[in-house]
Amino acid sequence: MEQYAIKGGNPLVGEVEIGGAKNAALPVLAASIMTDDTVYIDNLPDVRDINVMLQAMQEIGVMVRRDNRHKVTVNASNVTNLVVENEYIKKIRASYYLIGALLGKYKKAEVTLPGGCDIGCRAIDQHIKGFKALGAEVTIEHGLIKTKADKLRGAHIFMDVVSVGATINVMMAATMAEGTTIIENAAKEPHVVDLANFLNSMGASIKGAGTDVIRIKGVSSLHGTDYTIIPDQIEAGTFMLAAAVTKGDVTVKNIIPKHLESITAKLLEIGCEVEEADDCIRVVASKPLMHTQVKTQPYPGFPTDMQPQITVALALSQGTSIVTESIFENRYRYVDELTRMGANIKVEGNTAIINGVEKYTGATISVPDLRAGAALVMAALAAEGCTVVEDIYYIQRGYEDFHLKLHNLGAMIELVESERELQKFKLKIG
Ligand code: EPZ
Repeated sequence: MEQYAIKGGNPLVGEVEIGGAKNAALPVLAASIMTDDTVYIDNLPDVRDINVMLQAMQEIGVMVRRDNRHKVTVNASNVTNLVVENEYIKKIRASYYLIGALLGKYKKAEVTLPGGCDIGCRAIDQHIKGFKALGAEVTIEHGLIKTKADKLRGAHIFMDVVSVGATINVMMAATMAEGTTIIENAAKEPHVVDLANFLNSMGASIKGAGTDVIRIKGVSSLHGTDYTIIPDQIEAGTFMLAAAVTKGDVTVKNIIPKHLESITAKLLEIGCEVEEADDCIRVVASKPLMHTQVKTQPYPGFPTDMQPQITVALALSQGTSIVTESIFENRYRYVDELTRMGANIKVEGNTAIINGVEKYTGATISVPDLRAGAALVMAALAAEGCTVVEDIYYIQRGYEDFHLKLHNLGAMIELVESERELQKFKLKIG
């Protein structure tokens, strides 16, 4: 069983290259099957969720060639099966992007209901509402979402909640509908914009992505493209917060600073220095961290995917901080583990009241979900003594070479696979 063994106390110092955005790459991969031409996708992160998606695509007849670790060639001219049903695909949320893509191109799709991180109720009513508005029949039977349509027709759709997944799914299906679709109250996340740019590079006509209103003029076919995925906003934000928590000096490279504005603002508020250049940001934490208030919101607000990481920093900051989670109701499951490391946090409903402590101490902790996992590793890097992080499978879903990148910044962290390796690590660190 793989675990991270970590000895805390080293400030993170240096530069780290940020990879491609997982949450952009997943819908881009799904959308790549909407043409019979060949599609080249670069800057793909080599993480578990992406590899599961590639496998699911292969199982329905898509040719996938891995050109190098971060580049794939996709050709979907021989899709033989419109039913996506396998053990692995259930585990990734983004499996449902194959519904929008297959429905758009083939007017039919059957996909296993999605799983993903257990961070709260993850409804799909807005996806279904959007597909139905485009003229599709949608039923849920035996754990499968089944959709079909004689033809899809453009529609005016008002999303009741701002949903990344529903915006993306409906955008894909509408790309190959007859007529114009307008999505109101659309999600504005960078990955929504990236997918629109990708589809437009294949011949789609999508305007307004990145605003509340997206207009899609349907086209009858899409063509091949060569596309590079945007950098991962959340991976970058995680390393920026890791610099703060460890009192370090880290430059995140190969990023789009605009995507990180809400995180940069909070780092400044808590007393870090932040320097921005064209495609990198340097975070220096030389002073004691100060308390603040954070509320998670859809982009451009503070991302829910950064909530555990900022909480880990605030729990080491002077004074009382308040964090309000307004997207997912079950995203504080890591707080019990953090408490075992010495944090003083009280969760009431969707609010965490955090009284800063001077230090964390190492413990054996278990990861409840992807972003919480990264946050717990950050806590361990700042903690006194040794921490063993279990269930790191979740972290590997979304962070490529997480421990190696941290190691290169000076962290004492190792991936261990047995009790013997763990003992060896403990002996080595003394
Ligand atoms: C995406 O999830 C991301 N996943 C999540 O990242 C991220 O936390 C989330 O967006 C919010 O930014 C992927 O991109 C694969 P939503 P998604 O639909 O699309 C409610 C990570 O760590 N809702 O924007 O599932 C829903 O319950 C993951 O990388 C409905 O009510 O999120 C939630 O409260 C975790 N009905 C809110 O909207 C619907 O039909 C936002 O969900 C859909 C959603």
